[in-house]
Amino acid sequence: MVKIEFFEVDHVFILKTPRFNWILSQSSDIKHNLAHSYCLPKSISDVQRQAGSSETGTDVLSPVLSKALDYGPMKGSEALRSNISHLYSSESSSPLSIEKIVTTPGASLANFIVLYALLGPGDHVIVQYPTYQQLYAVPASIGTDVSLWKTSQSEDWKLDLDELEKLIRPNTKMIIINNPQNPTGAIIFKQTLERIVQTARKHSITVFSDEVYRPLFHSVSPTDSEYPPSILSMGYDNTIATSSLSKAYSLAGLRVIDLCVNVRSYALITASQIDEYLASFVLGPPVRQLIEGNRILTKENLNIVQSFIDKNTSFCEWTRPEGGPIGFIRFVRSGRPVDDVVLCTQLLEKRGILLVPGRKCFGDGINFSGYIRLGFGGDTDELIAGLEALQSFLDNDYMDVPLSPCA
Ligand SMILES: Cc1ncc(COP(=O)(O)O)c(C=O)c1O
Repeated sequence: MVKIEFFEVDHVFILKTPRFNWILSQSSDIKHNLAHSYCLPKSISDVQRQAGSSETGTDVLSPVLSKALDYGPMKGSEALRSNISHLYSSESSSPLSIEKIVTTPGASLANFIVLYALLGPGDHVIVQYPTYQQLYAVPASIGTDVSLWKTSQSEDWKLDLDELEKLIRPNTKMIIINNPQNPTGAIIFKQTLERIVQTARKHSITVFSDEVYRPLFHSVSPTDSEYPPSILSMGYDNTIATSSLSKAYSLAGLRVIDLCVNVRSYALITASQIDEYLASFVLGPPVRQLIEGNRILTKENLNIVQSFIDKNTSFCEWTRPEGGPIGFIRFVRSGRPVDDVVLCTQLLEKRGILLVPGRKCFGDGINFSGYIRLGFGGDTDELIAGLEALQSFLDNDYMDVPLSPCA
């Protein structure tokens, strides 16, 4: 039997308390869900309205109604792959051929397929850390040696390239990065990406970049020289990117992404043609407005969270996220980290606030005591209400939260 770690970020919410003994992210006891990592989910009508097609009398769903629901193409729909190719090619001097694009229902499956297909026992991978647990737990589960390429808040979560050289072994097969990064919202800028690619090229190592939060950047614009390109446009063939409609595109319900590997056939044969059709629609003309809307929303919401942190500097601190709809906040008392698991449990029980405890969900390789991940990509009024509830907890109950046992 394959041994795989418990996937904490999805299951931590099944807390064994009498009141909360089910998947809490779906529970009506949650009044303020700040644990999510996506932007405000959209309906098909929202997207259609944004695209203006309802005004011109075109119903986005009508072509689906007459579609025979058989298997689709083995690499995914051509229309969808073509739209993905346009998106990536528009940012690069060299076009991305649709032959190099494969769709899957969601980045989770894409990541799984890439890792499962390209790695095995005896291989070694280097994984930027902290990051989404899947990116290091899946390689470990199939017998691959994993080195965590650790970053810290004191270095603003920046990667140390000398450290990368030191981590490389003769059997290093892959460098795995996540740009922008979950849970910190840190970005790997262009120059660092170039250095990573240079190092990988020197040792013939594949660079695999999980780009689900791309292109949601807050601190850099496409005209800046340090704007991070996709790993696919760095002029190195040995690169793979996964992406998704879940995060920056607000459509987690549509499970479609791009990458290139044929293990897909073992996992799903082909994706749902309806999903692929809708994804293709969204990644066509509506995409610009969709991304721009989410960039404005996350920037505004980020400023609201920043004001909250500025108001509570004796209790919390963070490195301001540079991209994505998530941030990693450290809660302290008299300079020492509190127990983030107890903090999250009490916030849920006393105020109905759902947050992600860092030590439990991201702390395999470093002790992230006191850290919680907060999602700010949702509705602005709901974020404000959630932060007000958090403020009330800080004002009235915070002193009862114990300090971290690991501090
Ligand atoms: C870094 C990262 N990669 C992949 C995923 C999974 O994305 P999807 O919803 O498309 O499966 C997530 C979801 O939280 C994520 O944070």
